[in-house]
Amino acid sequence: MSNPKLTIGLFGFGVVGEGIYKVLQDTKSLNATVKKICIKHIDKVRNAPAELFTTEADELLADEEINVIVELIDDAEAAYHIVTKALKQKKSVVSANKKLLANHLEELVALRDEHGVSLLYEAAVCGSVPIIRNLEEYYDNDLLSSVSGIINGSTNYILTKMKEEQLSYELALQQAQELGFAESDPTLDVEGIDAVNKLTIILKHAYGINEIPEDILYNGITHINERDIQFANEKGYQIKLVAQSVQVDQGKVAAFVLPTFVAKDSQLYNVRNEFNGVLIGSKLADEQFLYGKGAGRYPTSSAVLSDIAALRYEYRYEYKKSELGIANVLTNEIFLKVYVSFESWDTIDKEEFAEIEQVFKSNTRNYIVGIINLDVLHNAEWFYDKSISVIAIGEEVLYNPELVWDQSASVLEKL
Ligand code: HSE
Repeated sequence: MSNPKLTIGLFGFGVVGEGIYKVLQDTKSLNATVKKICIKHIDKVRNAPAELFTTEADELLADEEINVIVELIDDAEAAYHIVTKALKQKKSVVSANKKLLANHLEELVALRDEHGVSLLYEAAVCGSVPIIRNLEEYYDNDLLSSVSGIINGSTNYILTKMKEEQLSYELALQQAQELGFAESDPTLDVEGIDAVNKLTIILKHAYGINEIPEDILYNGITHINERDIQFANEKGYQIKLVAQSVQVDQGKVAAFVLPTFVAKDSQLYNVRNEFNGVLIGSKLADEQFLYGKGAGRYPTSSAVLSDIAALRYEYRYEYKKSELGIANVLTNEIFLKVYVSFESWDTIDKEEFAEIEQVFKSNTRNYIVGIINLDVLHNAEWFYDKSISVIAIGEEVLYNPELVWDQSASVLEKL
């Protein structure tokens, strides 16, 4: 294999930017050097020679010697301008920007194709866990039946610390920020936006689905209430933020992100702290589990480094599902088993449940355990009410609608 010279223009010198700079210094075999680093604030003291830094993006983008742009900034809007311009200048791009990719993937891939370069982003999904390359290469066929798991490290860190060390939500979040796991705007993590961005990218590689995050039902961990934690403890569950994508019918995939009660027999039960865990369901191989650090300087740098290394042989994603004509579409026509807790009965419409298994009333907090259609949930006003908590029960919560309607008919009659 040839070892072409990779001359890198690096955007961003934050947690991951500085990490990859250091890692590249120690990885001589790569024949990759950082020529220039573009940052926002020139006055900050940084652990790299001052002459490397600039605030002028064009110093990197117009430099003909620079053949690779590594984009590691947190501003998706600015990243959009950098990445589109870099691709147009025929520079390959490595990015970790989930928000940018989830919202503009089709356009960026079209630009990549027009200009004959590469656009790689393993670090954007699950940090060090090689999920994209796996879906691209090993699952380049239609054997995949599900890709689900914990794909946000910060929320998993917060939930672990709250459960195991009884830390307050605020303190656990502060630690996740100090350790460099959280986004600069941590609402992206705790409200489930980061997870749904990553799920959108997974959908493209796993099933050839072109969607934007707004089309997918999601929620984060900010609604979780004391009563919910008590319910989890009573039943021996862990609460995890789980992203799910499941092929429910030929060519149809259901996808959503919800806090989920995870039982002891699930692989996800023991995914702690900033670790991520992804379960891959395959029609032939049954179930596989990918596990590793999903956030943090060096785990994320590991994925960026792997992408840079792949540019030595001009590696490109092929989006094979779309290319082979085995693309799927999203469906909300599935049913979930959920627990919904709330203060006032006026806020919930019981009629929207296909089946109600359990009702709990108290002076402070009430809850319902029941089965609900994903589309109904997506359109229910109360789902978006901050005082109401909706938690999926188990990860295998998908039902064949006909089965559910048969089962629920008798139950509904009794209600
Ligand atoms: N904020 C993200 C997380 C960083 O916590 O998972 C890695 O994408």
